[in-house]
Amino acid sequence: MNFEEFWTRGDVHERVKIALKEANLLEKKLEIEDLFPLDQYHARGIAATIELADKLNFSKNSTIIDIGCGLGGPARYFSKRFNCNVYGIDITEAFIEIGNYFNKLTHIDHQVTLLKGDGEYLPYQTEFFDGAVSQHVTMNIENREQFFNEAFRVLKKGAIFGFSEHGLGTKGSPIFPLPWADNEDMSFLKTPEYTKSLLKKIGFKNIKIISTGEKYISGYNSLLKKGQSNEKPTLGIHVIGGDSMLERSKNSMQSIIENRTYPFEIICNR
Ligand SMILES: C[S@@+](CC[C@H](N)C(=O)[O-])C[C@H]1O[C@@H](n2cnc3c(N)ncnc32)[C@H](O)[C@@H]1O
Repeated sequence: MNFEEFWTRGDVHERVKIALKEANLLEKKLEIEDLFPLDQYHARGIAATIELADKLNFSKNSTIIDIGCGLGGPARYFSKRFNCNVYGIDITEAFIEIGNYFNKLTHIDHQVTLLKGDGEYLPYQTEFFDGAVSQHVTMNIENREQFFNEAFRVLKKGAIFGFSEHGLGTKGSPIFPLPWADNEDMSFLKTPEYTKSLLKKIGFKNIKIISTGEKYISGYNSLLKKGQSNEKPTLGIHVIGGDSMLERSKNSMQSIIENRTYPFEIICNR
């Protein structure tokens, strides 16, 4: 399975189309909120995006980059909440296509632009952005130094950078398959201490680490409860992640409980 196949799991366009139809969302004018159950592709969904946004507090009319933006759900949220312009970049072409379609459906395409590309080689000028965000992407990035160097390069001096990831826990060896990787070939976990020292070496300042493990465990628990009952919703993370999403989420939760992984957010300044 290649990278694109891992993320799309067959015909993700078709699954999204069916889900929107079954949820009766194709017959009305959509707000970005209507898509939250589908387009926040990370642990705890929109709740985690809102909490990260509280810490980032982007300025009105600022220009923000979302690196590894997925379907653009967080980008749309930041744009609406802070009235700012967001450029999202993601390596999975199908996600960018669906994300730009969602931008049109929610009439936010004048403020949110999504582009296919690699977060390790950002197609933007130096010191272009007022802020950057990246949720649950770095677990797939082997060359972290290159990825963070690029974030540093495109940010203006003093700009805020916030990201979240599943870091490596004290026990190591996470249980596969996981939401971000079926095996070790795609998963490159680092301890929060390593990440902090790398960011410092690159030149980031005011680096704060916030543990998110407890919140993730309760988020995964409610996802699993819903998934195992008959109340499985029409819209949900399973539409994008496919049938194996439940098993992968369970492994992610168990990996946190056994200290194999250590999820955290980092907030810092360029
Ligand atoms: C768990 S999803 C998170 C998507 C989005 N940040 C969100 O929270 O809804 C991880 C995303 O990282 C993207 N990704 C992985 N490696 C990447 C890279 N080198 N450059 C850009 N995107 C990447 C994947 O395509 C996928 O969309």
